[in-house]
Amino acid sequence: MKRFIDLADLEPAAVRDLIALAQKLEREPEPEALAGKVLGLLFMNPSLRTLASFQAGMARLGGRSFVITPGQGTWQLETRLGAVMDGDRAEHIREGLPVLASYADAVGIRSFAEGKDLAADMAETGFKAMAELVDKPLVNMESAMNHPCQALADWKTMDELDVPAQGKFVLSWVNHPRALPLAVPAATLTMAAQRGMEVVVLRPEGYEIPQPLADKARRLAKASGGSFTETTDRTAALKGARVLYAKEWGSTRHYGDPSADAELRRQLAHWKVDEPWFAPADPACHFMHCLPVRRNVAVTDAVLDGPRSVVLREAYNRMPAQMAVLHRLLAR
Ligand code: CP
Repeated sequence: MKRFIDLADLEPAAVRDLIALAQKLEREPEPEALAGKVLGLLFMNPSLRTLASFQAGMARLGGRSFVITPGQGTWQLETRLGAVMDGDRAEHIREGLPVLASYADAVGIRSFAEGKDLAADMAETGFKAMAELVDKPLVNMESAMNHPCQALADWKTMDELDVPAQGKFVLSWVNHPRALPLAVPAATLTMAAQRGMEVVVLRPEGYEIPQPLADKARRLAKASGGSFTETTDRTAALKGARVLYAKEWGSTRHYGDPSADAELRRQLAHWKVDEPWFAPADPACHFMHCLPVRRNVAVTDAVLDGPRSVVLREAYNRMPAQMAVLHRLLAR
């Protein structure tokens, strides 16, 4: 494996192999596996879990890492091609990123969606332009429309919880003060579809999954014996569900228009997961969220602190999942 960009680049059997390696590294640590190796981490956007879990995972395998957050102790990076750099951005990504890659054995990049033009974000134009500048093994630490590390950790979490491979998986839109990117919803749908699950997207009008993402999920689900549907009917969606995965995302109808999105979500405060949501679900239904989450906006304290919630397990699993990825990319 040379790059870890999209879980769908791997066959489901290869994803299961990665999860098996993650579990093996938990049982039988390899503190020298990546001795002498260096991981360079470029964060164009904030993080808690991704930053800490990559650094901790690399250290546990005997390697080292450095973190660059442009503008925080390092030069502000310009990303626009053809920019006249007479503002506060002192260095272009076209020099900065190859320089960082030259110091490292592998590189991780986080670069969120611009949130202005759905087609450009769907095409991953920003992340692809950066990826072309890296001649080392590369990890997508969240791009405009993907977050494969989160998806891998979530698959591992469901395996540990004995969630059936073909169980019902509901991805539900939940409230947030502003429009958020589609990266986690997209990666989550890919993951659940590849796992062969009965995937249902529950969302209000105006927050439809973009057609290319829905088509991808449908294709992957079909290949794995699962299915993909979308609905606004909460009771029908949650009937028999084994997982309720909550996520916030911006209106696809008003993509790039924060005022129209804000107007639409003004009537959607009740899209906050609470215990009554689980009434039609399987009694063992788990609550999942990638974090960070807004308490009592997206989900109530009672659910988040209650027995259904596996959010801390998901966050922990980021580390062993990424250790498996780093091991595949860098171990001899
Ligand atoms: N889930 C996730 O990627 O968390 P961070 O944004 O804190 O890295």
